[in-house]
Amino acid sequence: MLTYDLSKRNKPLYYALYLAIRADILSGKLSENEKLPSRRELAAHLNVSEVTVNNAYLQLYAEGYIRSETRKGWFVCEVERQPTAKLPLPEKCRPLPEKRKDLSLGSNAALFPFSTWSKVTRKVLADEYDKLLYAAPNCGIAPLREAIAEHLARFRGMEVNSERIVIGSGAEYLYGLLVQLLGTDCLYALEDPSYPKIGKVYAAHNARCAYVRTDKEGIVLSELPPRTGVLHLSPLHSFPLGVVTSAARRKAALQWASEKPDRYIVEDDYDSEFRLEGKPLRTMFSADTNGCVVYMNTFSQTVAPSMRIGYMILPDGLYEKFEQTLGFYSCTVPVLDQFVLARFISEGYFERHLSRLKKAYRQSRIDAVKNLQTLQTGIPLQTESEDAAPYLIVRAETDMSDEELKNYLAERGFTARVLSEYYHTPNPPEHLLLLHYFALSGTH
Ligand SMILES: Cc1ncc(COP(=O)(O)O)c(C=O)c1O
Repeated sequence: MLTYDLSKRNKPLYYALYLAIRADILSGKLSENEKLPSRRELAAHLNVSEVTVNNAYLQLYAEGYIRSETRKGWFVCEVERQPTAKLPLPEKCRPLPEKRKDLSLGSNAALFPFSTWSKVTRKVLADEYDKLLYAAPNCGIAPLREAIAEHLARFRGMEVNSERIVIGSGAEYLYGLLVQLLGTDCLYALEDPSYPKIGKVYAAHNARCAYVRTDKEGIVLSELPPRTGVLHLSPLHSFPLGVVTSAARRKAALQWASEKPDRYIVEDDYDSEFRLEGKPLRTMFSADTNGCVVYMNTFSQTVAPSMRIGYMILPDGLYEKFEQTLGFYSCTVPVLDQFVLARFISEGYFERHLSRLKKAYRQSRIDAVKNLQTLQTGIPLQTESEDAAPYLIVRAETDMSDEELKNYLAERGFTARVLSEYYHTPNPPEHLLLLHYFALSGTH
């Protein structure tokens, strides 16, 4: 029977167990096709809960270390073994070569409260079983919309009518719905740089997009093209720079939107929960008095990207138009997931999880800054900004072009993103790397 000392750990129990079993698989102690003990047996043997073993097995399964055979149990998969290397978390099912380090990626999956999620799921199955097999209302189930509205009131001071919330499979799905709602006659203006999928989704729905320069205060509104009808912003924490649009620019943008009918601002509030400094800022949605701001957010960063749950809040007039013209669409998020998330939020777990994540981000940011100088890239690196959570923006002191810089780093075993990749306007800033806190700090 597998035996591990899980008492000395600074990680969730299931994760410590997952790491221990993974190490045995990689070292060859557990051989290919070997059968693992059942969850019940192992839980009893290690004196932990079955949920803990289940979660450890699911993590191993997701990463390709073990497979499940119906009515037979769990078996070790064939993996590339590296007996002596101290392994980083694999991105796929294979361990990475020892020296290769992907500095552009990081995941907060290790902090996900699996046991709470399991508990909430069991409660939902027991209490809501009579609703789970029926189609959801097209904008999502009322308990989730209400839980979101209450969370926004508590956490962001927003006054939201839950009936104006539309639930969908992540922000990227909702961008598509928005184009269908707002039409393609006008121009869609986007911050430069911004999250690449925004422009891609709009363009895939035949919307014309213009990228507008940003500076330290956010988007430069004086450069907005004249035919702009929709202005897509992440004013409280832009991606990837982490810039907060100044209060004056936010006000000017609202003024711009109010000057003509059919002008809208999409406030894409992704990641603003992870602005690590200062008080929560007032959203543009809350400051809007003319019904021209659509607020959008997602649980991709705050719960998990695999969840595919996001939402938008439509101002009154637009909501009516949505119901009339697009109300025929079914809600794209499974009802079970909606009920589980609704309880996760309304029973206080979500906000607890957020503060845990924030704490981890703050710590890993400190470690990342410290560890930066120990990276053996052969190029001097200086932290340019720590505010783009969860990234450090780092200046590489070099004359190479960004393309050459990426290749140079790749030859030394590092994968890194350069900031210029995110720009569309000419002459983007060069030699700036976007390095994930977690990849640098080695925490997760
Ligand atoms: C501004 C912005 N919105 C949304 C997302 C992702 O949202 P989703 O996974 O819900 O499509 C990202 C991801 O980086 C982003 O930068």
